[in-house]
Amino acid sequence: MSKQEQARASKNYSELLYKTFNPLKACSVFLQDFSKSKDKAQKQAILNRLKDYLRIRKQLSLHYEIARILEAQLREYTSYDYGEGYFYQSCRPIHITGFRNTEARIAGMQLEKYVAGKTVLDIGTNAGFLAIEIAPMCNKIEGFDINPYLIEVANCVKNFLKCDNVEFWAGTFEEFNREQSYEVVLSFANHSTYDHNTRQSTDDYFQKCCRYVSNEGLLLFESHLPSYETQEQLKHVLECLKKYFTIEASYALTRGTRGDQGRTFAICRKR
Ligand SMILES: C[S@@+](CC[C@H](N)C(=O)[O-])C[C@H]1O[C@@H](n2cnc3c(N)ncnc32)[C@H](O)[C@@H]1O
Repeated sequence: MSKQEQARASKNYSELLYKTFNPLKACSVFLQDFSKSKDKAQKQAILNRLKDYLRIRKQLSLHYEIARILEAQLREYTSYDYGEGYFYQSCRPIHITGFRNTEARIAGMQLEKYVAGKTVLDIGTNAGFLAIEIAPMCNKIEGFDINPYLIEVANCVKNFLKCDNVEFWAGTFEEFNREQSYEVVLSFANHSTYDHNTRQSTDDYFQKCCRYVSNEGLLLFESHLPSYETQEQLKHVLECLKKYFTIEASYALTRGTRGDQGRTFAICRKR
């Protein structure tokens, strides 16, 4: 489907499906769009959406609000959409399936061990779903993303789930300028970005991360998929990182979806 056809489909979803619960209509609309779609990732996003639709009856008004935001994103956001018209991250509390499995990531990285009771910053938080799911473990978590539509979704979900120790805002890491530092900074698939919206060098990126990690604090790093970031490229990334941090441990992630598995996770202490 072209971006225009996707935008039309998205409008259909919000008006026909999320306003009132109508599972039969939903199946026929989703299956029609599935058969029109030639792209594998788009087909997967439509299937994810159908699966979730059938589970969200009691959260329909929230999902209607989210669907309207996705609609606006498709119409107005000109940059790359990591969710292909739906979501990149999953969010189990509100039955959203994404290309990345948030629970599997949290478990595979043993995040609770590192963020428990800490102040945390999530760079490029996307729809904030990972931040929202680890919020009960943290003292406070803040996240920002260049995509304002995803931040609108993040804020809707945050309010719906009454997460009062979470703050989200739209903005870039390049412009990020705060006085405070954080005990833990999350750099998950963000040191370079497929959308070309990361404008600073890898070295400048980690230098900036270092500025925001408090003394004795941690940077938790997740690489891109090996199919997108070769061993050689990752080696260069880690060399930049090691100018500012000591890698205490690192391993390949094995849980979750195909989009999760094979990435390198590193626990890095500020030098
Ligand atoms: C590959 S996704 C990773 C999202 C999230 N960190 C995760 O691991 O689930 C990259 C995210 O970075 C955001 N992004 C790209 N360039 C950015 C920038 N310069 N500043 C802030 N966010 C940015 C994108 O909008 C996208 O949500």
